[in-house]
Amino acid sequence: MSQESQNNDQERAQQIANRVLQRRAAALESTYGQEEDSAGQIEREARQGLRRQVSHSTELEDVSEVEYRQIRLEKVILVGLHMSGSAADTRNSLEELAALATTAGSDVLDIFMQTRDKPDVATYLGKGKAQELSALVQELGADTIIVDGDLSPSQRRGLEDVVKIKVVDRTALILDIFAQHAKSREGKAQVELAQLEYLLPRLRGWGESMSRQAGGRVAAGAGIGSRGPGETKIELDRRRIRTRMARLRKQIEQMAPGRLGQRSSRRRNKIPSVAIAGYTNAGKSTLLNALTDAQVLVQDALFATLDPTVRRAETPEGQVYTLTDTVGFVRNLPTQLVEAFRSTLEEVEEADLVLHVVDAAHPDPIGQVGAVREVFEQIKADKIPELIVLNKADLAAPEQLAILRATYPHAIEVSARTGVGIDVLKDEIARRLPKPELLVDVVLPHSAGKLLSETHEEGEIISEEWTGEGVHLVAKVHPNLAARLTHAQLRP
Ligand code: GTP
Repeated sequence: MSQESQNNDQERAQQIANRVLQRRAAALESTYGQEEDSAGQIEREARQGLRRQVSHSTELEDVSEVEYRQIRLEKVILVGLHMSGSAADTRNSLEELAALATTAGSDVLDIFMQTRDKPDVATYLGKGKAQELSALVQELGADTIIVDGDLSPSQRRGLEDVVKIKVVDRTALILDIFAQHAKSREGKAQVELAQLEYLLPRLRGWGESMSRQAGGRVAAGAGIGSRGPGETKIELDRRRIRTRMARLRKQIEQMAPGRLGQRSSRRRNKIPSVAIAGYTNAGKSTLLNALTDAQVLVQDALFATLDPTVRRAETPEGQVYTLTDTVGFVRNLPTQLVEAFRSTLEEVEEADLVLHVVDAAHPDPIGQVGAVREVFEQIKADKIPELIVLNKADLAAPEQLAILRATYPHAIEVSARTGVGIDVLKDEIARRLPKPELLVDVVLPHSAGKLLSETHEEGEIISEEWTGEGVHLVAKVHPNLAARLTHAQLRP
């Protein structure tokens, strides 16, 4: 290993360690910290649950507890099935999962694969493979398995029972990352709601809980059919979660009008809006910085951006517009999250132009464009004008850039990092923005017939009055015409 890559590895390990430590500190703070009183009993109990998680390992005993907020992901083994499609697709997907896991602060110990037609209904992997995985878990000392796919609640239980450590799927991992990064009150509430929605059907069934937890009571004569503590606990957990969900929904509902208000006031003022969207890690935040000089957090981590960040920007001619950074998209965005991140995605729905940022140096940029456009369709944003921005041109192989250029002939090539192409992009944004209408009130000489007919064609005439002196015209027109009308008027 070269000195440089060793240093990079060390740096990366240090960053990961820092992130994990920061998260721990945040978890402890919210465990012991003074939060709003109104949070009430449920939250206090939830925090106690968190305290348990912080100080305990994720041995199977803890799995039946309500994993209320944070999944502890530390030493993980990734598990993937190669079912259909090319081996490269499976590899890309697992690489993305590894990047996601690192973003969540985990240390990826190994990747475990099986080729199968379809997942096993009981244990996801086949029985024999699951046993093999269990041995690997012992050998490496892993504490979590992350499956590259969706697990049904019973598959998750089945696999956990074999490997004896916590098993989570891709959705749970994405939710965990979202939970770590959500910044606004609304973002946080929405992520928590999505987490609970995901969790509710996945609480371990009270069957097992009873056999484990009610053992003592049964032995002491409480008997079958009595409401043992195991049953009561799960029922209680479910009720608590439902109550909490109802409260969150109400909170989110109350927050929505403010958001709408902000947007509609922007619309009233006719400030055009541009949304930056794209696959996670495409370079959206970096591009936002390059376009506005704003200091937005840029991390070499997926999902650094979770809440909409709205910035003011100006075209070279001085037209003001807003630039909104949005959450990164991923393939198969969990449905709970499409809902959870409506606040972010709504910014896209309302935009006049979407800058679709593509990582031109990624192994599968065209697949990523497809995945993002699918989400655009889901949120009904596919009718908004889209400008493809091929980013990381400094990094991409020339052959790959050539293919992308041919696939997206109207795309603009940039490097948000080095600044190459940014000016061309700025000009293109300016060209594609809707032009604001300006109100002009002028008296034109009778000889200005050509200008007058242009105004009839391109503008909106509010009043037109012919006098002996000239034509008194009040109209709404685009800035260029406004300038010419003002220039041609008889008296300023
Ligand atoms: P999410 O918030 O995860 O959706 O990411 P993002 O799309 O906002 O990406 P971000 O701007 O955080 O950039 C991701 C990584 O790509 C960072 O390490 C950037 O420094 C890097 N990056 C962004 N643009 C370029 C570029 O033009 N060239 C190169 N070489 N790297 C870039």
